Amino acid sequence: MVYTPSEQRYLNMQYRRSGRSGLLLPAISLGLWHNFGGVDAPDTAHEMIYRAFDLGITHFDLANNYGPPPGSAEETFGRILAQDLRPYRDELIISTKAGYRMWQGPYGEWGSRKYLIASLDQSLKRMGLEYVDIFYSHRPDPQTPLEETMSALDQVVRQGKALYVGISSYSTEQTQQAIQILRELGTPCLIHQPSYSIFNRWIEDGLLETLQEEGIGCIVFSPLAQGMLTDKYLKGIPEGSRASKPHGFLKPHQISAERLAQIERLNMLAKSREQSLAQMALAWVLRHPGMTSALIGASSVAQIEDNVKALNNLTFSAAELRTIDDVALR
Ligand SMILES: NC(=O)c1ccc[n+]([C@@H]2O[C@H](COP(=O)([O-])OP(=O)(O)OC[C@H]3O[C@@H](n4cnc5c(N)ncnc54)[C@H](OP(=O)(O)O)[C@@H]3O)[C@@H](O)[C@H]2O)c1
Repeated sequence: MVYTPSEQRYLNMQYRRSGRSGLLLPAISLGLWHNFGGVDAPDTAHEMIYRAFDLGITHFDLANNYGPPPGSAEETFGRILAQDLRPYRDELIISTKAGYRMWQGPYGEWGSRKYLIASLDQSLKRMGLEYVDIFYSHRPDPQTPLEETMSALDQVVRQGKALYVGISSYSTEQTQQAIQILRELGTPCLIHQPSYSIFNRWIEDGLLETLQEEGIGCIVFSPLAQGMLTDKYLKGIPEGSRASKPHGFLKPHQISAERLAQIERLNMLAKSREQSLAQMALAWVLRHPGMTSALIGASSVAQIEDNVKALNNLTFSAAELRTIDDVALR
C-alpha cells in the first residue's frame, strides 16, 4: 500500500531554530543508530519512519556505520525514501556522519579529508540522495589537524553534497576552535550533537553555554540513556530490548542495582507529573532555552508516540529539578 502522510502532521510538533541559523528542527528528532539495520525487521523500520513523519518529526539522523552491519541503516532509509518518501524530500532534514571505523585500512575512520569525502559519497549512494541536509564530523580526531577536518566539511557544502555541517562529541575547547575555523572558511557550524541526559551531564560544564553564546544549535543524543530513563528495565531486562541484544550498545551490567533504584525514584516523580519517565526525561533536556532538539531512538511506533507527548509538559518546578538532581547526582 502506498503511504500517504497525515494532513495533521504539522499541527502539534514544536519547531526550534538551530542556533542563529535559518533552519528549524523538530523538538524531537529520530535517530537510526539501532533498530534500522540489516538485522532488524524492515516492516517495523518502515512503520516507525512513517509514524514519526505523521507526528511532525521531520528530522532523521543517520551515520555511515549505523546497522549492523555498518551502512545498512542508510540502506534501509534509502529504501523507505525510494518507496514512499521521495515526494516529501523537501519536508525532511536528513543527516549523516563520518568518524568511526567504516572500512579497512588507514582511510576508513577518523577525520582526514580523504576519509570524510569518500564516506559522504558512499552514504549518498546508500540512501539514493544527491545531498544530505547536515553532514557531521562524528568525533574529534586527535591526529588530524582540525583545519583539515573542518575544510573537508566546508568542501562538501561547496560541492553541494551537504547543505549544513555539524560536529559531534567535540569538547568545549575543540568546539570553540572548530566554530572559529568554519567561520573563517565561510561555512558556519550549524549544530553540535553531544550526548546528554538526566544521568549524563557533561555538556553543562561549559559546552551548552558556549553553543548559546556562539549561536550554534544543540541536538542531544541518548536523552533516554539508551532506554534506562524509561520504565522498561524496572522488572528485569525484557526480551528484545537493547540491553538483551548482543549488538546492543547498552550492556546489562550498566543496569546496576544503584541505577535501578534511581530509575524507580525518577519514575515516581514522573508519575506525579502525570508523565511517563521517558516523557519526563525528554522534557528535562528540552527545558534549556538553547536546546534545539532531543534525538531519540525507538524500537516501536508506540515508543515514538509516547515520546512525542513529552511536549505536553516541558516545565519543571524548582523542587522537581532539585529532586532529579538529588536522585541522579548522588
Ligand atoms: N553522535 C553520536 O556519537 C551518537 C551516539 C549515539 C547515538 N546517536 C544518535 O542519537 C540517536 C538516539 O540515541 P539512542 O537510541 O541511544 O537514544 P535514546 O532515546 O536514549 O534510547 C533509545 C532507546 O530507548 C528505548 N525507548 C525509547 N522510547 C521509549 C519509550 N517511550 N518507552 C520505553 N523505551 C523506550 C528503546 O529501547 P529498546 O530498543 O530497548 O526498546 C530505544 O531504542 C541515535 O539513533 C543516533 O541517531 C549519536
